Amino acid sequence: MLIKLPDDILSSEITPESIYQQRRRFIKGMALTAAGITTSALMSACNNQNGNASSSKTAPTQNAPVFDDLKSSEFNTDEELTKWEHAINYNNFVELGDGKTSPIKNADKLVTRPWSVSVEGEVDKPGTLDIEEILTQFDLEERIYRLRCIEAWSMVIPWVGFPLSLLLKRFQPTSKAKFVEFISIHDPKRLPGQRSDFPLVWPYVEGLRIDEAMHPLTILSIGMYGKVLPNQNGAPIRLVVPWKYGFKSSKSIVKIRFVEKQPLPSWVQAQPDEYGFYSNVNPLVPHPRWDQRTERRIGEFFKRDSMLFNGYAEQVASLYTGMDLGKNF
Ligand code: MTE
Repeated sequence: MLIKLPDDILSSEITPESIYQQRRRFIKGMALTAAGITTSALMSACNNQNGNASSSKTAPTQNAPVFDDLKSSEFNTDEELTKWEHAINYNNFVELGDGKTSPIKNADKLVTRPWSVSVEGEVDKPGTLDIEEILTQFDLEERIYRLRCIEAWSMVIPWVGFPLSLLLKRFQPTSKAKFVEFISIHDPKRLPGQRSDFPLVWPYVEGLRIDEAMHPLTILSIGMYGKVLPNQNGAPIRLVVPWKYGFKSSKSIVKIRFVEKQPLPSWVQAQPDEYGFYSNVNPLVPHPRWDQRTERRIGEFFKRDSMLFNGYAEQVASLYTGMDLGKNF
């Protein structure tokens, strides 16, 4: 996969020759880092996308796609994409503040370099992957998925990422690994939501059963709309599990643990009457606050019917054969 470079920078100026020769998944952020340009330049790349224009000559062109030649996926929906402006302005990311517009306002509080993801627990080969290794070692795909929040709104997002299973298998889970736990960044000094009285125990924890984690629909995303993942969308790396309510798709992941027992996700711990471990999208399982039978696609006026497993039943229903989906919410 080739990553487009800004017209005004020669790739040879900013990219190590060996990597350039490989013509593989290479992002501008890395290129800027390789050139000695600081994290703040990379951050301003994200800010540019968010509309806070920077005049820096070396910052990537505003709104320029960063990823090119992405592998397409058989799982892609052809539904109309949610507008980029909606996807980056209307977010849930409580570490960056409560409410839909706080995450973009506080986006610069999330520092995404240096960044690494450690993988531990029930594995034969525990280890840590630096984000730059992750960005260069996996073939990136475009995955156009529906995203359905438990708050009864939805979007269609073209993610850039790769199957989670490819990363997990490298660490060789043992036979005791029945679940996978995802732990997001814990940085209360910088992240305003982690200093507030918001009723979540930090860090943000989520979990999947091992077969859900290994399912080909489950991806780790490092970009969207062909661009680097904006901070408010979970930079530099987040989970996307399209058949589950959006809160299962953890943002800004720093640790992945293979465990024997079912993890206790942050939301389940905080409000067990409202959130469940499985939380598969299901219009037939009522919720105390939000009517799950319909949803509002952001950018549209009329509500639409919600779908079992968010429309991915054909791919995932067999994971839950014999299970009472009402009881196992
Ligand atoms: N991950 C972390 N770490 N913190 C969060 O607050 N919110 C979740 C999920 N991942 C959240 C998170 C919720 S409720 C939703 S709906 C999606 O992120 C929203 O993703 P988006 O803002 O990119 O649309």
